[in-house]
Amino acid sequence: TAKKIGILVGSLRKDSYTRKVAQALVSLAPSTLTFEFIDIGELPLYNQDLEENGAVAPAAWTAFRQRVQGCDGVLFFTPEYNRSVPAALKNAIDVGSRPYGSSVWGGKPGAILSVSPGAIGGFGANHHLRQSMVFLDVPLLQQPEAYIGGAAKLFDDSGKLANEGTQQFLQKFAAAYAHWVDTNARPANA
Ligand code: FNR
Repeated sequence: TAKKIGILVGSLRKDSYTRKVAQALVSLAPSTLTFEFIDIGELPLYNQDLEENGAVAPAAWTAFRQRVQGCDGVLFFTPEYNRSVPAALKNAIDVGSRPYGSSVWGGKPGAILSVSPGAIGGFGANHHLRQSMVFLDVPLLQQPEAYIGGAAKLFDDSGKLANEGTQQFLQKFAAAYAHWVDTNARPANA
């Protein structure tokens, strides 16, 4: 049966290059994977007071946690903000990691793709995100690494990925990730 993969996009803007790369990967991935884009833009900033000492967690947090929990793996597509992960994406990771002992991330096979119009391809964001994933026990695809640079020049006027080399790379990446999901599946928090 197909594996369901949650996609988190670290940019909230509608014409996001990062989102377009995510859409391209979806169209190039093997049919053993299905995808669900999981919105992060409406999550209140994480604050323990909102769910501890009798407080009921914001509905957006609960819905987000359930959507991640329902996935067999997670793909992170991140832009780079000031050489790190955009706050919206870090917030989503933090929300999913709590309450303490109930993280939704543990054991979900994951992968990271960073995207930037610049030449470094979001390397700083990519590796800061890896640091959090080590602690959250997300088995993370190591190779191929995905630093998608020059992103402003990869798309045609309709917003579709038009660069053949990048298409081939994303296809290869998706195939490697599909294999990763198959070989690293394990129960949450195991
Ligand atoms: C950026 N940008 C950026 N780019 C980069 O390569 N390294 C960086 O450290 C930063 N820093 C940064 C900070 C902030 C606050 C913003 C808004 C932007 C530029 C960024 O790569 C560019 O805006 C991309 O278009 C953002 O990705 P999306 O929205 O196109 O997916």
